[in-house]
Amino acid sequence: MSALPELLTLRDARHADLDGIDSLERLSFPVPWKSDYFEVEIGAPWRFNRVALYGGTLAGYVFCAFAGGEVHVNKIAVAPAFRRQGVASALMDEVFAFASRVDAEEMYLEVRVSNQPAHAFYAGLGFSETGRRARYYFDGEDALVMVRKFSGPRRLDGPPAMKGDSGH
Ligand SMILES: CC(C)(COP(=O)(O)OP(=O)(O)OC[C@H]1O[C@@H](n2cnc3c(N)ncnc32)[C@H](O)[C@@H]1OP(=O)(O)O)[C@@H](O)C(=O)NCCC(=O)NCCS
Repeated sequence: MSALPELLTLRDARHADLDGIDSLERLSFPVPWKSDYFEVEIGAPWRFNRVALYGGTLAGYVFCAFAGGEVHVNKIAVAPAFRRQGVASALMDEVFAFASRVDAEEMYLEVRVSNQPAHAFYAGLGFSETGRRARYYFDGEDALVMVRKFSGPRRLDGPPAMKGDSGH
């Protein structure tokens, strides 16, 4: 694994990040989500939205929501120049830590059937295919639903922390 993750700053997404997120979203997805979506998600309750910064440059982001015992990974993207260097893995490490803090029972996401890099990425993180949603995307492509289940006793030590660990 690359040493790049050690040089990254990971912190909660802010509204000031929206322009960079919008640019990376357009580069990364055939049907990008509108900036309004990210704007609403930032700061909303029961969310875990993080960015990875290399110096002042946005290297990647992940947007997640927690509901009904499940963490849903809404979006993850890494800038092309930073791919295959462990950035998404570093972001997902934080999502797994968040899932543990909120005592999630499982984590799931949808991914385009054609998105082989993402399938490989998620499989490497222990996700497995659990279903398929027909014509899930606006352009008509199907989604695979991938899940990773967690086991272990539910915690009894109070309410979960909803924010990232700190500002770094
Ligand atoms: C999928 C994505 C987030 C991965 O980000 P990344 O920072 O490059 O991922 P990592 O470097 O942490 O990769 C970890 C492992 O995942 C797998 N992986 C990641 N990208 C891969 C690719 N293009 N092909 C095959 N395996 C891949 C590898 O096993 C990799 O480990 P390795 O590099 O040591 O072989 C990135 O390619 C991306 O932003 N794609 C466009 C947006 C997207 O498809 N998001 C997911 C939508 S559901």
